[in-house]
Amino acid sequence: MLTYFYRKDDQDIFSGRKRELSLLEGYLLAQRPADAHLSGLRRIGKTMLIKEFIKRRLRDRAVLPVYINLEEIAETPEDFALKFTGWHLYWHYAKGDRLPGPFLHLPSLLFEAHDKALRDALLPITQELEKARPDRQRLLQECFGFSESLARFAKRRVLLFLDEFQEIQNLTNFDQTKNILKIMRGVKDRSEHVTYCISGSIISEMEWITKDDRSPFFNQFNHIDIPPYSPQESRELIRKFIPDIDARNAGLLHHYSGGNPFYLVQLLRKTVLFLGREEETSESLIKRAFISETLSPNGLIHSYCNYLYSVSLQRAKGYGVLKSLLDAIAASESSMTQSELARELRMTQGAVRVNLKELQAIGLLTERDRRYFYNDPVLRYWVAYVQNGIEAPDFPKEKDLVSLIEELDRKYRLVSEELGREKEGTVRELMRLFAGQRVEGRLFGITRTVMLPRFKSIKRFVSDEGRTEIDVLARNGVRWAVEVKWKSKAVGEKEVSAFFQKAAAVADRCWYVSKAGFTKEAKAFASKKEMFLSSEREIGILKRELEK
Ligand SMILES: Nc1ncnc2c1ncn2[C@@H]1O[C@H](COP(=O)(O)OP(=O)(O)O)[C@@H](O)[C@H]1O
Ligand SMILES: [Mg+2]
Repeated sequence: MLTYFYRKDDQDIFSGRKRELSLLEGYLLAQRPADAHLSGLRRIGKTMLIKEFIKRRLRDRAVLPVYINLEEIAETPEDFALKFTGWHLYWHYAKGDRLPGPFLHLPSLLFEAHDKALRDALLPITQELEKARPDRQRLLQECFGFSESLARFAKRRVLLFLDEFQEIQNLTNFDQTKNILKIMRGVKDRSEHVTYCISGSIISEMEWITKDDRSPFFNQFNHIDIPPYSPQESRELIRKFIPDIDARNAGLLHHYSGGNPFYLVQLLRKTVLFLGREEETSESLIKRAFISETLSPNGLIHSYCNYLYSVSLQRAKGYGVLKSLLDAIAASESSMTQSELARELRMTQGAVRVNLKELQAIGLLTERDRRYFYNDPVLRYWVAYVQNGIEAPDFPKEKDLVSLIEELDRKYRLVSEELGREKEGTVRELMRLFAGQRVEGRLFGITRTVMLPRFKSIKRFVSDEGRTEIDVLARNGVRWAVEVKWKSKAVGEKEVSAFFQKAAAVADRCWYVSKAGFTKEAKAFASKKEMFLSSEREIGILKRELEK
């Protein structure tokens, strides 16, 4: 089943993504279906999620999934129109079980359309394509409309998956197709039996398409974020490769993969190869697997980083400058600010700003609190070494890598989430100063005075089965659970209540710390549940008060 679409090997290792699958099902299969947008960086698992979704619906007679990767078809408007239609027929007749070739060319496509009604529906498209100068507006209208024709013919709702959707913008460079999104929107509005699911890896472009009020697709889609794996999701995948692994080694593998399923799979394959040659799983073995997979020219992570680096930079203007910015940030022991970069590279602040913006737009860097971080810790590690010509052997022994192993924990990571971790540390320090002091309630968002406990233990909490994690759990008779969010956006009711759900079970007092404060709804919820809330400002005051 789905032999040519979803490889058996991949089907066997599919792990995690329960939340995302159920959200997707919620939207696409509802009584009143809603269009969805899957958003996540390259290789985070968007396509695999779609494949798994389609696999689970194979026997569902109410829907007909159609999957199209726009990266493969968005070269010219004519080719796009033909292949867009061809993939519809492929999914109707072949359902992922045959090679698609005959469906993607004329005239073989016509032979594949066994039903007269579908051949008739194809006619306006093929006739237009045969003209010396096709009317492209009409052509696109017809091909977008084909989804609805197929749905009516098959008496099923078409679930149209358009992967790497941002590539459709390539077609805006051609005559008569500048408004391709508008044409598609017009057809979409008239389609009653088609539900759209778009996905894309270039976050800034997808954000424009779905969230800018100048875009025809503004506010049309329900967003589903595809984040990195949680430690538990990683563990599920790891056990499929190394069933008897212990928790510590599984944690290391998760750490070095950065929660990226693609990196994790490569790292696991390499670890298993090592295991065929020697010893048992150990910290050293995992580190060597990571280093060789990333820094050896034969490593697949190495090739991928190479590809990501050059492809991303090709999309951007100003190759040389961008490269030096990336190198400088990768080489620094911590993140960097705009002025630090300007000083180091002897550039003006303005030029650095423009180029940092570009690197953010192509998805390589993020900014937090005026500092610039890599989104991808593995890429950062790769840039730091490979750009300086350092390579590793394929199956290194410990002695081959002494200095690389020694440096590994200093050189690996430092992505924006670590700033959040640092802040957890600050809050823990603060709680050590509590020691029975009294402070004004307004620092915690309430009116009465608060008596601060003297805690015996203050640390991160992970429940036995690993299902619940709490940033800080402090105890001494009473227990305080604390969540720390260091983002520039105010925390909403959903986040506060999610924290309350998990924390109220293990603590007497729930305290939410958010840099940018809270929404009105979040505050109302907190006061109902007698939770404490503090923002950056209150934390600052609290610190001064307690240190007096
Ligand atoms: N849920 C998952 N379970 C197991 N492996 C996964 C999962 N998601 C992604 N992968 C691995 O990562 C690779 C890249 O995922 P893919 O879906 O192609 O990413 P994207 O479409 O976001 O670029 C897959 O080929 C697979 O090896
Ligand atoms: Mg993909």
